[in-house]
Amino acid sequence: MPAVEIKPGVYWIGVNDRTTDLFEGLWPITKEGVSYNSYFVDDEKKVLIDLTKSFKVDEFLNQISQITDIARIDYIVINHMEPDHSGVLSTMRKIAPNVTLVGCKKTKDMLASFLGITENIRVIQDGETLPLGKRELQFFVTPFVHWPETIMTYELSDKILFSCDAFGGYGALRGAIFDDECTDFDFYERESLRYYVNIVAKYSAPVLKATDRLTDVPVDIIAPSHGLIWRKNPQIIVQLYKTWAGYAGGKTEPGVTLVYGSMYGNTEAMMNAVAQGISSVGVPVDIFDAARTHSSYILPSLWTKRGVMIGAPTYETKLFPPVAQILEMAVQKRVLNKKVAVFGSYGWSKGAEKHLEEIIAPLEWEMVDLFQFNGRPTQEDLKKGETFGVNFATLVKTE
Ligand code: FEO
Repeated sequence: MPAVEIKPGVYWIGVNDRTTDLFEGLWPITKEGVSYNSYFVDDEKKVLIDLTKSFKVDEFLNQISQITDIARIDYIVINHMEPDHSGVLSTMRKIAPNVTLVGCKKTKDMLASFLGITENIRVIQDGETLPLGKRELQFFVTPFVHWPETIMTYELSDKILFSCDAFGGYGALRGAIFDDECTDFDFYERESLRYYVNIVAKYSAPVLKATDRLTDVPVDIIAPSHGLIWRKNPQIIVQLYKTWAGYAGGKTEPGVTLVYGSMYGNTEAMMNAVAQGISSVGVPVDIFDAARTHSSYILPSLWTKRGVMIGAPTYETKLFPPVAQILEMAVQKRVLNKKVAVFGSYGWSKGAEKHLEEIIAPLEWEMVDLFQFNGRPTQEDLKKGETFGVNFATLVKTE
C-alpha cells in the first residue's frame, strides 16, 4: 500500500502482513493477517515513529522514499522494542547513520541488548517534549503496555496519539486504514479483543494506569501500530480497552465458556447435554474442542465470560492433555475472576479433577460443581448433566 496522509505532513507508512502464520511465533494469524503501522512526521525535523518487522523492507523503504530522503531523517521514535516494530531499525541506521533514536531509559538498555546499539540515543522522561519546527511531540512513559520500555508519543498540534500496541489489534488492513472508512467493524473488534487477550491482557493493570495517565490529554486521533487508525471516534477503542482491562478484576459478562475434549465421544455426549442445560436458561455459551482449537481463539471467551465449564475425561490419571494445555495458557495469561464447573468420563481410575485443581490453583477460580461418570453416560447420567448445566448457568446469570 502507498503512504497515506493522515494530516498535512503526517503520514501512515505501514506494512500489511498476510503471509506470517504465527504472530510472536505463537498466535495464529494465517486467516486474519496483521498490519505493522509506522508513521512519518515531515517538519523541519523529520521523524519516524515506530518501524516495522523485518518484512517487506523494500516496500517500507519505498513508501518513505516517496515522501522524503531517508538519509535525512533526524529521529526515529521507538515506542516499543518488540521486533514487530523495531525489526528494520538496523537497516534504517545503515541508510541514515546520523539518525537519533528516541526512547526511555529501558529502551536504551534494550537497544544495547537486542541490537548492540549504544550511540545516538536520546533518553526521554515522562512528559518531555521534542520540538520539530511547526510541530511538537510529547512522550508519555507507559511501562508494560506491552513490555517494560513502552512509551506513547503525542503530536500536540493535531492531537494525534501514537499508541503503539495499545488500542491495536490483529487483522491486516482491508483497504481502509481509518475507522470511518471501515465497513467490517465487527472483524476489527473481534480481532482487537483476540490481540488484547493474547498479547496485552496479562498487563491489564498497567493498561488501566496508562489510560488514566491519558485522561487529561485531548486526543483527536489514535494511531496505533497495529490495525485501524481511529479519527472519527477514538473513544470507541479506548472504551473497549478499558472494559477488557477491567475484566481482570471486575464484573465480567454473564456467559459460559465451555472447553471440552473427548477421546471416544463419551465426554462429548455429556457436553451436549450440559450445553443444552446452559442454553435452556438463556445464558450464552461458547463451545470449544480443546484438541482442535488454538488457545488464541479460546482465550477471548475465557477472558470476557464469567463462567468456565470444563469437560474432560481422565487420561492416564490426569486431565485430558489438550484441555490441560488450554488451562495452562489461562494461568500464563492470568485469566482471573471466574466460576468453574467440571464434568467428564473416567474408565478405571479418576484423577482429572485433582489435576485440574492443581493447574488452576494460581488463578483462585471458584470451583462450584463437579460431575464425573463411569465410561459411557447413561440416559440418567445425561439428564443429570443437563441439570448440572442449568444449575451452573443459573449461578453465572444471577451473580
Ligand atoms: Fe506489536 Fe508488543 O509488539
